[in-house]
Amino acid sequence: MKDLRQNYTLGSLLEENLPSSPFDLFQAWFEEAMSSDKILEPNAMVLSTCADNKVDSRIVLLKDLREKQFVFYSNYTSHKGTQLEKNPHCNLLFPWVELQRQIIIRGEAAKVSESESIEYFASRPVSSQLGAWVSEQSKPVSSRMDLESRLEKLTTFYSTNKLTKPENWGGYEVTPLQIEFWQGRENRLHDRIVYSYENNEWKISRLQP
Ligand SMILES: Cc1cc2nc3c(=O)[nH]c(=O)nc-3n(C[C@H](O)[C@H](O)[C@H](O)COP(=O)(O)O)c2cc1C
Repeated sequence: MKDLRQNYTLGSLLEENLPSSPFDLFQAWFEEAMSSDKILEPNAMVLSTCADNKVDSRIVLLKDLREKQFVFYSNYTSHKGTQLEKNPHCNLLFPWVELQRQIIIRGEAAKVSESESIEYFASRPVSSQLGAWVSEQSKPVSSRMDLESRLEKLTTFYSTNKLTKPENWGGYEVTPLQIEFWQGRENRLHDRIVYSYENNEWKISRLQP
């Protein structure tokens, strides 16, 4: 490990090229991540939560980028759901290491409207819809067999009943207070540009690497 070392030379992030909105820069970087054949799931991001003085992290998928919010879907009674209920402050981190880039979004999460969750749930493949019913996410289960037999029962039940969204499943929208863009540079003099939302506008600053 001590000898694993990359030189970062793929790009730069300079003040003269920055858009005034971090969403525009996010969109541009996201499109580059999508068109890169090195990144399998460009919309995978690490969601970190903090409740009861404990920090937790896991990957979730970005499913919508609104004008001012980042949206993902999950189970409201999972660990992350109960943590966000206690403390909506959270971070989203895109680790686009292959592009020598990282984006950190620091913000606050809120549930999306029920109608939006219903609409997105209905657009998912039936297998994913059933999965949401089978899994009491983050709760212990006695065995894998238990989960598989639950799936079998629910598949039979829903072959003749309408599959609706579970009540405890839905979306979160994260409204950023700060977005940091990191571009690896030579000699470890990386570019770190932070957009902070203050007094209804985005302020741009550069941090030391
Ligand atoms: C590539 C990838 C994508 C994932 N996407 C989601 C997702 O969109 N929503 C979700 O609830 N869990 C997703 N997971 C599973 C979570 O990482 C996590 O295991 C699960 O949500 C339970 O987290 P919790 O117990 O902290 O609430 C994904 C995992 C991976 C590796």
